Amino acid sequence: MHRRLASLLCAAALSPCIAAQLTPTPVVEDVPFITTPDHVTVAMLELAGVGPKDHVIDLGSGDGRIVITAAKRFGASGLGVEIVPELVAQSRNHARRAGVEARTRFEVQDLFATDLAPATVVTMYLLPEVNLALRPRLLALAPGTRIVSHDWDLGDWAPDRTLTLPVPQKTIGLEKTSRLHLWTVPARVNGLWCGAGGTALRIEQRYQVLQATLDEGKERRSTSGRIDGTTLRMLGTAGMAWAATADGEVLRTAPTTGKPAGPTWRRSGGAACG
Ligand SMILES: C[S@@+](CC[C@H](N)C(=O)[O-])C[C@H]1O[C@@H](n2cnc3c(N)ncnc32)[C@H](O)[C@@H]1O
Repeated sequence: MHRRLASLLCAAALSPCIAAQLTPTPVVEDVPFITTPDHVTVAMLELAGVGPKDHVIDLGSGDGRIVITAAKRFGASGLGVEIVPELVAQSRNHARRAGVEARTRFEVQDLFATDLAPATVVTMYLLPEVNLALRPRLLALAPGTRIVSHDWDLGDWAPDRTLTLPVPQKTIGLEKTSRLHLWTVPARVNGLWCGAGGTALRIEQRYQVLQATLDEGKERRSTSGRIDGTTLRMLGTAGMAWAATADGEVLRTAPTTGKPAGPTWRRSGGAACG
């Protein structure tokens, strides 16, 4: 059992743990230190499409290898947060030796207290229950932010892609492989959108999966699709696919071949359009 869970259980059980609770304890790690092998580190960053415009935050950054590789090989900037001070000191040394000190930062910090908003890419090699505890914060990040997790998924938020890599030297588990999962944070488009002339588009969203019903008064059509960051791709009835970009309060239907851009939809504040 990891120690944060143990202390929560301790808090629930009260008396047997009182002595332990009265003893001041340092902040402890929720996940043990195990490094991501170099070829897996590169594959994680490639899977996220990391480039010079990216800012990578590695949650529980260990010896700093993911952030340092993101900077050195892919030209990104990065932040590593790590609860063990010795590992942070080691990471800073490694970054200096790799010549990426100016583009990288390592902090002794609890990953649960870290501001994730500056990230365009979040990387993690944690544990299933830690991933699940982080999930609401990951889902609330800016649409288009990529998340890559080594080995563990995010429960029923299915990844957009999963890769399996051979890792013959793996010291944990029976399978000598690593699984890498990629998610792109979807824009939040759930709800009612209103178009010209009182037309209504109702979208039901579950992570990246969408169901939409278009109500044009005398005609009602339903369709399903997906959202990739801010881009919706819907399968229209009779093969008439449509795509749109979600920009906060506005959905813009993209032009399709030979046709100008379609309608623009505005998020409704009420229960009906028109
Ligand atoms: C499995 S290691 C991964 C290290 C590195 N990201 C990698 O992939 O090589 C997990 C790291 O998370 C750190 N860690 C655990 N709980 C943490 C917490 N609450 N806040 C910050 N770091 C934590 C551990 O000390 C450990 O170094």
